[in-house]
Amino acid sequence: MINKQNFEELFNQHLIKDISEEPIDIVLSGQYGKALELLRDAETTGLFPSLVGPPGVGKTILCRYFASLRAKENKNRSFNWLTMDESIKPSHFIGSFDPAITLKKGFVLEAFNPGPLLNAMLEGGTFLANEINRATEYSQNTLLEPLEEASIGIPHLGRIKADKDFFFICAMNPEELSGTHRLSEALKDRIKVWIKLTYPDKSTELDIIRINLPEQFIVEESELELIYSVIKETRQNKVDIEIPASIRAGIAMAKLLGRRRQIEKEKKIKEKESIYVYLPEIARNVLLGSIKPKPGVKVENVIENIIHKTLGG
Ligand SMILES: Nc1ncnc2c1ncn2[C@@H]1O[C@H](COP(=O)(O)OP(=O)(O)OP(=O)(O)O)[C@@H](O)[C@H]1O
Ligand SMILES: [Mg+2]
Repeated sequence: MINKQNFEELFNQHLIKDISEEPIDIVLSGQYGKALELLRDAETTGLFPSLVGPPGVGKTILCRYFASLRAKENKNRSFNWLTMDESIKPSHFIGSFDPAITLKKGFVLEAFNPGPLLNAMLEGGTFLANEINRATEYSQNTLLEPLEEASIGIPHLGRIKADKDFFFICAMNPEELSGTHRLSEALKDRIKVWIKLTYPDKSTELDIIRINLPEQFIVEESELELIYSVIKETRQNKVDIEIPASIRAGIAMAKLLGRRRQIEKEKKIKEKESIYVYLPEIARNVLLGSIKPKPGVKVENVIENIIHKTLGG
């Protein structure tokens, strides 16, 4: 049980002190290598980039990897991020005053808890504004000064100039570009490199599944191919499906299949069960929440059609 004594110890044990030391298993073939190169070009030229792509195509992992490369080069530079929605306020970016200390001492530096944007600006780290187009225009406006002037005003305390290594990236979902809180024109004009990510090509996606599969779960190549065909079918059926399966769904299916195979091994079962017995069930379990059907279409029916088409039966 967590108590006051072991909380501090556990917290320090799990604290990510330096992103450059965090191992990141990333595949850099296909679109990812090109996207990374563009991020590096944006950094070198001082232009701010945006990654645009549907859920689960690798926007966050690419940013983390990029931030870790910068951290390795610049030593101890941090990576801060904030995922936006309508409830995000400017204070979530900048920070806020601790009410108890402020009551005692007033609006002094000591009472101020810095937010992730301010931290990145002070440390020269990377700040990722995730799902930026979900924030209201009021909150998006907080970013205008940091991006244009490399400075930011902190209420009651003054204005700070960002460290020269401060870098900003944002990520968003393309469908929502036309959503309620789309990116404000003022902010859009300050983002100058637009990097599109989509579902990767087959060999890249299979590599991603392999790299994310713990080594105790052994899945054969022919089995991976079948998993990929199920995932691919969700992306091709544009009549019934609004949001298809992401990379995460393929990884999940491979893990579940790998676990079945591991159990067979543990039980010393000689005759491996056919994949056609396991995979339909696994596909049902994973796809149920991994695809979004078009309005009026029943998700169960779509899944059965996909299974029938790709796995037969
Ligand atoms: N190039 C890659 N190399 C290794 N793993 C990857 C790669 N791209 C994606 N993944 C894996 O796919 C999953 C989804 O990636 P990630 O979280 O980066 O997607 P995202 O685009 O940020 O999704 P969301 O829009 O939902 O935030 C993660 O488990 C990640 O490890
Ligand atoms: Mg993400």
